[in-house]
Amino acid sequence: MTTLDDPTRSDRIGAPTMHTGLLNLDDEHSYWLEAIEGTVPADLEGTFVRNGPGRQTIGDMSYGHWFDGCGMLSVFSIADGKVHFANRYVRTPKYVRETAEQKICYRGFGTQIPGGLLKNIGRLPGNPANTNTVVHAGKLLALYEGGRPFEVDPATLETVGEYTYEGALTKRMVMSAHGHFHGPTGDWVNFGAGSMGLGLKGPKMCFNIFRVDGAGRIAATGQLPVAHFPFAHDFALSGKYAIFFVNSIDMGSFGPVLLGTRSISEGVNFDESLPMQIAIVDLDTMSEVSRFETDPGAIVHFGNAFEDGDEIVVDAMHSDNFEANEALGDIFNSVRLRGGEFRRYRLNVATGAMSYEVMSPTNSEFPTFNQHKAGVRHDVTYSACSVENGADSFFNAIQRVTYDGDVQLNTLEPGFFGSEPLFAPAKHSDSDADGYILEVVYNAHEHNSSLLIFRATDISEPVATLKLRHHLPHQFHGFWSDRVLLDAAR
Ligand SMILES: [Fe+2]
Repeated sequence: MTTLDDPTRSDRIGAPTMHTGLLNLDDEHSYWLEAIEGTVPADLEGTFVRNGPGRQTIGDMSYGHWFDGCGMLSVFSIADGKVHFANRYVRTPKYVRETAEQKICYRGFGTQIPGGLLKNIGRLPGNPANTNTVVHAGKLLALYEGGRPFEVDPATLETVGEYTYEGALTKRMVMSAHGHFHGPTGDWVNFGAGSMGLGLKGPKMCFNIFRVDGAGRIAATGQLPVAHFPFAHDFALSGKYAIFFVNSIDMGSFGPVLLGTRSISEGVNFDESLPMQIAIVDLDTMSEVSRFETDPGAIVHFGNAFEDGDEIVVDAMHSDNFEANEALGDIFNSVRLRGGEFRRYRLNVATGAMSYEVMSPTNSEFPTFNQHKAGVRHDVTYSACSVENGADSFFNAIQRVTYDGDVQLNTLEPGFFGSEPLFAPAKHSDSDADGYILEVVYNAHEHNSSLLIFRATDISEPVATLKLRHHLPHQFHGFWSDRVLLDAAR
């Protein structure tokens, strides 16, 4: 639990701090955005869906980690130069019960149920469905890495329920929040931490890998053994391979978590003596074909990956520590959330050679790229950056890095806090030079948020800024669909 007396920090509204951007948005809205500076591009049409915790407190209790607030979808529907906004919480059992009882009823990644050991013993964390979202095979899913996806009706934003792929995703399986589109086929590949049965030292840990075809069926599965209980948030996907970086992060024994004596987050430990493993899984056989070992490190998010001859090229945000978890676990007191440096790895599957180059040293996270380039050489990567600008730093800049390494950095004014910048292609185009960057920015001075639309070729000034009637709590990830999905926006 946080140690702050007033976890909402509502007393700080107007100060240039990221903390007020964590205040709850309990109300659900649906309206057309009317406060517009600039012009919404006529060739931008589709749906920008974002997911993130909409609340960090319930009743007089605060969650113990940014990861544990209930998931809220924010939907920007864009067409004909107009933008409609709607937000809706995912009706998970956790959301429904905690809303009714106005208290914490479920454990989380870093949250214990108040009341001591007996309240927590034997209880697994609840699923807040708060991390990412995707539209695939006609389904809108809200994703979280410690559970199964939740299906949401894209036309109404009503929650349909937990999504199991017709039972293929069993109750004991989890699916990560970072599935990736397989460019050549349009399949969607994801994974989840799991076990391969019991060994002499306890459960044999693995990554379960799922390949979902265009019809929405899990068409192939695989298992990748890993030596320790993994912290694995994301992976990379090229045309032929799924690439897993097994971080130097030990999650500790699961025993104390089951006994209720500590949360999962409290067991997280960056082990400076643990080399990072890089496992390459062939997508045809769904089995490991190659493994690399490199210096200890932590990679939370990946950009694109593709093959270049015998080499696999992988974009990743690399950090030599995992201090981020401490900041996230004390979110109401943190003033800086750093990221990693942007590295481009080259992994030669024929010779076993590996190398990397630093594309940008700026602390950054949430790398994105034009999804039309998934698995093939892309032109540009975008990310949210954490820089010194005289105020708290909770992603306060955006970075545009060309494939050749030219960097454009847009630092926001002090008191403005950005989020994951997402590429949206212009209508009927797959060119990186012909699209837009969508970014939600929180204004701590006025305690409201805006949608900023930049030309993808120049992120120095937005072409349109659309102010919401309220703030949006800081979010994690989003998705772009080329269609307007919401009934209210049609
Ligand atoms: Fe993520």
